[in-house]
Amino acid sequence: MDTVTTIAAVREHVRAWRRQGLRVAFVPTMGNLHAGHVSLIEAARRHGERFVASIFVNPMQFGPNEDFAHYPRTPLEDARMLASAGCDLMFSPEVREVYPNGAERATRVEVPGLSRVLCGEFRPGHFEGVSTVVAKLFHIVEPDVAVFGEKDFQQLAIIRRMVADLCMPVEVIGAPTVRDADGLAMSSRNQYLTAQERSVAPIIYATLQAAATRLAAGDAEIASIERCGVQTLEQAGFRPDYFAVREAPDLNPPSPGARNLVVLTAARVGKARLIDNVQVTRP
Ligand code: PAJ
Repeated sequence: MDTVTTIAAVREHVRAWRRQGLRVAFVPTMGNLHAGHVSLIEAARRHGERFVASIFVNPMQFGPNEDFAHYPRTPLEDARMLASAGCDLMFSPEVREVYPNGAERATRVEVPGLSRVLCGEFRPGHFEGVSTVVAKLFHIVEPDVAVFGEKDFQQLAIIRRMVADLCMPVEVIGAPTVRDADGLAMSSRNQYLTAQERSVAPIIYATLQAAATRLAAGDAEIASIERCGVQTLEQAGFRPDYFAVREAPDLNPPSPGARNLVVLTAARVGKARLIDNVQVTRP
């Protein structure tokens, strides 16, 4: 695996592959990789012939009181994991390479509507930072295919919309959430949990599954299902931002006939804010 830090070097590698007619698949990340990230490289292998991963903790997507400075950074371990997953090129730029005029004043990409609901309501500006950096990374890497985790369901929906709206020639693939044995979705932020918090964290997935089971059984009381989810999480000691049933993949409030739904939640515990979701088909 080659490791590069400049835009020029990425383009040189990728353009050489494209001249050979090779299909390039891309996995953007913020590093501190775990098995969830590795599964995206494995999914990418089914869709491309050369693989690029980026490691970039994007300042634009962190709020002023969020964990940008303390976000876990493990570059050596990340490089080792990517290489053994079969990645060909790792792009890990400095902030000034991506934002030469500073992140504050940079041109932004905003996906209206979708970026303001659910997590967008509680993290103002977050998804604008995500769509902006992903648009930039797509221009830098020029991939044929890009893979994102369904763990961040709203992020995936926003990227799909951005690609459609801006006619970007990139195929976006979603990959299933990788979980620990007890059901907790893997996340770099799970490290913020104390042992006690970690022991209750699987309740998030269990609560989502309970809601999905009601929906799959034909229960149409959406408001009651959402209330019940909030209560269960509060009783377990979480501070939920939301627990919501939406249509998949577009996140609209469910219309009576909609069959493909997703139950999503974001809940705080201690210093961590955990998100997860479960998709369900109604009868
Ligand atoms: P990060 O949180 O590092 O996640 C990178 C990718 O890994 C995302 O597509 C995310 O959905 C996926 N991922 C994380 N945990 C996962 C899990 N348990 N199972 C499957 N996939 C998982 O998401 C970001 O970085 C950033 O917002 C980014 C898109 C890189 C833009 O900065």
